[in-house]
Amino acid sequence: MSFDRSLKIAPSILSADFANFGKEIEAIEAEGCDWVHVDVMDGHFVPNLTFGPPLCKAIRKHIRTVMDVHLMIAPVDPYIEAFAEAGADIITAHLEAGLHTHRTLQAIRATGKKAGLALNPGTPVEAAASLLDLCDLVCVMTVNPGFGGQKFIHTQVEQVRKLRAMIGDRPVHIEIDGGVDPTTAPLVVEAGADVLVAGSAVFKGGSVDQPNVYGANMTAIRFAVAGLKSAAE
Ligand code: DX5
Ligand code: ZN
Repeated sequence: MSFDRSLKIAPSILSADFANFGKEIEAIEAEGCDWVHVDVMDGHFVPNLTFGPPLCKAIRKHIRTVMDVHLMIAPVDPYIEAFAEAGADIITAHLEAGLHTHRTLQAIRATGKKAGLALNPGTPVEAAASLLDLCDLVCVMTVNPGFGGQKFIHTQVEQVRKLRAMIGDRPVHIEIDGGVDPTTAPLVVEAGADVLVAGSAVFKGGSVDQPNVYGANMTAIRFAVAGLKSAAE
């Protein structure tokens, strides 16, 4: 996985048919997604429960692109090894999930995986300043984590702009997670984001029998940001 700041769309399978993950993943990849975003929730750090390492391992076989695992769990350290073994390419932990995020990021990198740091909307990006050299990705949450289909929080756009300036030349991706659609995508790309997670905006209206809808939904996002002078590059 070489580093580049070109636009990447990472559909969140939280909005896919849970009874059909393998085929759903094959459909979004065939329709041209860049990464596959996997939302792990523990019913404690966030008020929702999804799935754990066994499910990640099972779907890994269907992923040809990049398996981007977003851990919304606390504690996180005891589970890093299991998600690495399940085949994650990127493991993202929340700054708010524990007191020792520096150690957590080191532990992720020690497994040979890329390390991501996620920030809730209530956390100023400055809190990540001394951690950037340990990060391959910073995920700026543009909703409060826990559910798909929520409304984009516009005040996060300025946070993205600040974070982009803080990152400078470091090979660190800025990922946006929550409420991304063709209206909001240009705001964050212009501010410096290069990875767009999108759940409802990609899966809405489609199915494994109508995968072209997924393709059209992703094209709508790409079209909305095309030609923008991106601060990411
Ligand atoms: C929220 C998750 C997101 C979510 C995005 O806690 O981390 O990945 O599924 O869904 P949409 O794009 O529908 O806001
Ligand atoms: Zn997510």
